Formats: sequence, structure tokens, C-alpha cells
Amino acid sequence: MIRTATILASIGAASLSTLAVAQSVPAATAPSDADAWAAKVEAQMTDDERISLVHGFMALPFGPYETAEGRAGWPKDVVLGAGYVRGVTRLSVPSLRETDASLGVANPGGVRPGDSATAMPGGIALGSTFDVQLAYDGGRAIGLEARSKGFNVLLGGGINLMRDPRNGRNFEYISEDPLLSGLMGGAAIRGTQSAGVISTVKHFALNAYETNRYTWNAVVSDAALRESDLLAFQIAIEQGQPGSVMCAYNLVNGSKACGSDYLLNTVLKKDWGYKGWVMSDWGAVDNVDYAIKGLDQQSGEQIDKQVWFDSPLRKKIADGSLSRARLSDMVRRILRSMRATGLVDAGPAPAFDMAANSAKALQIAHEGIVLLKNDGILPLLGSAKSIAVIGDKAHVGVLSGGGSSQVLPPTGWAASVPIGATGMAGLWATQRWMAGSPLDAIRSAATGASVDFDPGVYNQSAAALASRADVAIVFVSKFEMEGLDSPDLSLPGNQDSLVSAVAAANPNTIVVLETGNPVAMPWRDKVRAVVAAWYPGQEGAQAIADVLTGKINPSGHLPITWPAAAEQLPRPAIPGFGSPAGTPVSVEIKEGSDIGYRWFAKHGTSPLYAFGYGLSYTDFSYANLTVTGSRSATATFTIQNTGKREGADVPQLYLQAIDGQVTPRLLAFRRVSLKPGESRVITIKADPRLLASYDSKVGSWRIRGGQYTIALSKAANAPIITREVTLKSALFGK
Ligand code: BGC
Repeated sequence: MIRTATILASIGAASLSTLAVAQSVPAATAPSDADAWAAKVEAQMTDDERISLVHGFMALPFGPYETAEGRAGWPKDVVLGAGYVRGVTRLSVPSLRETDASLGVANPGGVRPGDSATAMPGGIALGSTFDVQLAYDGGRAIGLEARSKGFNVLLGGGINLMRDPRNGRNFEYISEDPLLSGLMGGAAIRGTQSAGVISTVKHFALNAYETNRYTWNAVVSDAALRESDLLAFQIAIEQGQPGSVMCAYNLVNGSKACGSDYLLNTVLKKDWGYKGWVMSDWGAVDNVDYAIKGLDQQSGEQIDKQVWFDSPLRKKIADGSLSRARLSDMVRRILRSMRATGLVDAGPAPAFDMAANSAKALQIAHEGIVLLKNDGILPLLGSAKSIAVIGDKAHVGVLSGGGSSQVLPPTGWAASVPIGATGMAGLWATQRWMAGSPLDAIRSAATGASVDFDPGVYNQSAAALASRADVAIVFVSKFEMEGLDSPDLSLPGNQDSLVSAVAAANPNTIVVLETGNPVAMPWRDKVRAVVAAWYPGQEGAQAIADVLTGKINPSGHLPITWPAAAEQLPRPAIPGFGSPAGTPVSVEIKEGSDIGYRWFAKHGTSPLYAFGYGLSYTDFSYANLTVTGSRSATATFTIQNTGKREGADVPQLYLQAIDGQVTPRLLAFRRVSLKPGESRVITIKADPRLLASYDSKVGSWRIRGGQYTIALSKAANAPIITREVTLKSALFGK
């Protein structure tokens, strides 16, 4: 590892100089022009040029590129990062310079020394905002930064649905719900592409576990998949028009996702008419035949067993088992997206302001923090004269999630603790905290109070400090990362016993969670408030202090059901957990499209906190709901802030039942900010696919005629007003 780090540091400076290479003006082009341009340029290419566009390498010192000699043949415009694909200079086809991703511009292993970027909160925090405009703004901020560093492809957004709250990558994703993930993911993609940077949507599809991530197989019906994970992708693609789709590592019904004729050819390209290209995930290609199955480009080729999309592909074309038309199609798809997003003949990168991007990171953190419990102790508002801040690294920074998405913030790492792991996971297995510290932020925000700190190493000393203070705030955390799931919902180490000890010593205990997922809270009844801050990004400490002290009124709502126990989940244990990496594991997706709140409703079980739930320091009332429509449903209602503080709420429209049969689905939502006493009339419309089922025999969405119970709700399990509407049967779309 040390050797790799040294190499990374030594080559970084040289490659950073390539950033001075002329930047381009984004000249996004109408789709038909992009098609025409792609066809014209592709027709002029030699086969060598075509082949060069359909595979690329990981632009990092791995495999053959570990040494300087190995990298000698690299083109001059390589920017160190996730990937590089050669362009065709004579035809003005740019190279593709790819970087991760959804939470900011990554700098894997510090390969570009000192090159930091705005580190946004986790995707789960973004999902908690239910703020589609903010998703766009965040995506644009990341796109602008990526562009300024010389990248023109961003390998985000990740929108896999959260099927299990132990998935180590949930912090990167948005939610358990196809509508929320699709709308937010699509907006983020649109934002990124507005900066003239191609965005990918990933990981297509059903990349729901990290355990045996290359070898687990999801067994699921077509209808269930179309109504859940695929619907999220479908909506995100419609909304965001991403230039590229990244296929996943896992298998779906026995086929690797990147070699799945069903996913790539049938669903994505035929049924949805997707015109961009499919790139593989890194190390996800096992066979050249994936080109026939719909894969257009092999990424990160040095970590596959072979560069499949070069010599083996040429052989296939030569022996006629892959048509020339298909090779042309692969290339045209890539060219089309380049043209449509403005990569071709682009001018200087648009100017942007890092301070404005930090402000977006702060806004996402503010809006994404979910107040789970508050018996009135919050906001602190100067009532506490002495505060005990307790917990590991609360004096240093806020935790971030590990893996390819991790972003080096401008202030650097406040603390790094290597935890060790084997295989690829070993690369990412370092817990990293971003500066500033919650302790400092609370000290500055809670003026007039004395604020003391205990690291929480010993329960007795933490309890002793807590017993002397008016209020105790305990920070607990759980490190999660790509490549690793959690075996259970617990907080690691001694943290549960620490919270219990502090709560026993001080009745005014508040807990702040920094996690990538819901966790078990055995001490919940003993504390007065619980705040889910997720991984809150570079401005996280400030955001937490602002919410605790009341400068900001919390408005986050859960994008994932918070279970009371793992036994409530479709799979009480993670399939294959603990088996050697690479063990083939077949997982029956028995919940089908009934993920999260839908699973709980169907089984009549109560979660600890429902999807859509989140408290505020003010109150909102809903009234005058009307629901109209015969083939869809449009709801109009009045929302009023009935409390004393300005705040934002997220009224949610759900389908509850069809002809009395429980069929819960989020149909629409709107985030609304209101001053005290202010009211507003809101109209929201359901996406008809959410009122339908997918009829696989016909290949269409089908609305069953009948009586639909529709609820205006505060959360998936908290209807406030319900209405009945009669829908006519209908068959529509793909
Ligand atoms: C991840 C992708 C990422 C790629 C490139 C893979 O390990 O699954 O999300 O974009 O690496 O870094």
C-alpha cells in the first residue's frame, strides 16, 4: 500500500499539469443533430478508431500501469481518476476522462495530490431532502468542479433502491422508493450535464448488496423489477437524459447485469428507447459476448481478465459473430452522448464559485438532517448553560462513507483510521472524518453555554461529565463502505452502552447519529432527542450545530424505512454474509416491488420510523384535499404552517389501497417552505405507472379499473386525509 501511495503521489503532479489543456464550451446539441453528427463521424472512422472508443482503462497505477514504464504510452490528456477512453483527434472526438461521482469529484488514493473538491453529504442525506431543485443544484455543482479538473464524464448518479438497510453502499444512493430516487437522481443528472459533463446513471440494475458483489444473483420477476428498481432508472433516465448508463456487478436471473440481454437490449434499449451508451462497471466484464447482449463499452479494462472489447471483439467481427452494424451502434451511442452533452468542440469551462458549492453542501446537510425524536428539548436555544459533548471524534470532524465515491474535502481529512480488509475492500477500508468538528461548531453556536468534551472511551468518565452538565449530546457513528455490508443493524463497539450510561447520568441526553443507514437504538426510550445526520459532508458539523441550536428548522424526511429489528426485513440475515468473496449466492427477491414501507404495510408490521417521516420545530396542517382523475390522480390541498417558526414540510401523496386491498405506493410529493401562519394551495399529480402494475405478458403498464384510496400523508404510515377515486382500466406505455 505504501508503495502504491508513493507512486500515486509521484505521478499526480505531472498529470495535474494536463489540467491546463484547453477546456471546452458546453454546446449541448438537439438530439436529432447529435444523432446525425454521430452517424456522420462514425462512418468516417477506421476500425481501429471504432475499437478505441469501446474500451477504456482505469486511469490509476494499477495492473500494467503500476510502473512509470507501464504508463509511458498514456495519452497526454489523461487525468488521473476512475477511467479514460481514447478519443479520435482527427475527427474532433474527445477522449473520455471519467471521475467518480455522486457525492463530489473523487480523488482516489490521493492520486492527484492536494486536489480536493466540494464533499457533498451522502446520497441518503440528499434523498432525505425530498428537494428536487437541490438535487439539480448539487449535480450541477459537482459537474462544474469535474469539468474544471479536466473530466468530462461523471460516474454518478447512483440510484439503486435501498432494499436492505445493511447494504454498505446505501449512503451513496437516494432512497428505497422508485419515484423519489428517479426524480432526485434524474435532477442530479440534469444538473451535472448542464455543466457540459456527461453523467451516468448506475448501477443497472438491482445492485442491492455488496456481499459477494460480483457473484450474487437476484432472482426476481420481470413485473417486480419493472415496478421497482427499473422504474427508478426509467424515471431518472426520462428526467435526466444521462449520456451513459453503468451496468452493475451482480447477476439478475442468472445473467451478469453487464451481459444481460434482457436488461440492456430488451428493457433499456428496446422498451425504453434509450439512445446513450452502456458502460460496464469496473471489473464487471467476463466475456466479449456482452457486446451482443447490449454492453457498449468496457471500462477499467485492466481489472478484467482480458481487454475483451479489443482483440476478442475484432475476432468476432472478422468471423461474423458480431455484426459490423452492432459495432457502429456501440460507437454511435457514445458519439451521440458526447455531442448531445456538449463535449465536442467545447470551449472554456464555465466559471463557478467554490463558496457557492460549499453553500450547496451546507444546504443539503441542513435539509437532509432528519429529526427522529424530540420531546421538546430541541432546539437548545440558549436554555442550556452547560453542555457535555461526548463521542469518538466529535472534537475532530464528521464521518464519511468509504469507497469510490469518497471525496477529499478542501480542508483535508481531520482523521483517518485504517481498519483493514482483504481484496478490493482493503483499498477503501479507512475511516475518514472531515473537518470541522461538531464540538467547535456547537461551541460557537451555543453562545452563553460552557461546552466540555469527553471522547466516550470510558463510560464512567463520559457519564461523569454528563452528570455535571445541563444537557449531554452524544455523537455515535457507523462506518460503512463500498464492498462491505453490515451483518446487522447495531452501532459498532461500545456505543450503545455509552449512550445508555450517559442517559442514565443525565436525563437531558440528545443523540446525533452519523451513519449511512438506519441503525438499532436500544436506548431510544432513555434519550430526549435523536438526530439522524447521516454522513453530512464537509459542512456537516455546522449543519448539525445549526439544527441542534435552532438556527435551522429541521426538514429532512426518511428516504428509507427505519426498521425496529432485522427480523422485520424480507431477509433477516444478509445472504451469503461471511462466505469467501466470490461465492455464488442466489437471492430470492421475495419482496418483489414491495420494498421498505410497502413490505411493512403488506405485513402489518410497524417500523421504528416510517419512510417519509421527519419532525420539525413547527407544525403543518393539511386541509381541503380533492383528488380527481380517471386514468391518473391529481391532488389539490392546502398546507399551512400552524406553528411559530418558519419551516419546510414534505406533504406526500400515497396510494393506500385498490378496492380495499393494501397497495401502498408513493404517488407524488412536494417540498414546501412556509412562514408561520402562511398557507398555500398545492397541486400534485401521480405518475400513472405508480397506480398501475406491469403486465409482463402484454409488455405494458396496466391500471385496473376500481376504487383507489388515496392519502395525503406525513409519512408512509401517517395518512392525514384520504379520498376515494374511481379509475378506469387502462393499458399504456412500456
Ligand atoms: C464502483 C462504481 C465506480 C467505479 C469506478 C466501481 O467499483 O462500483 O460505482 O464508478 O468503481 O471507480
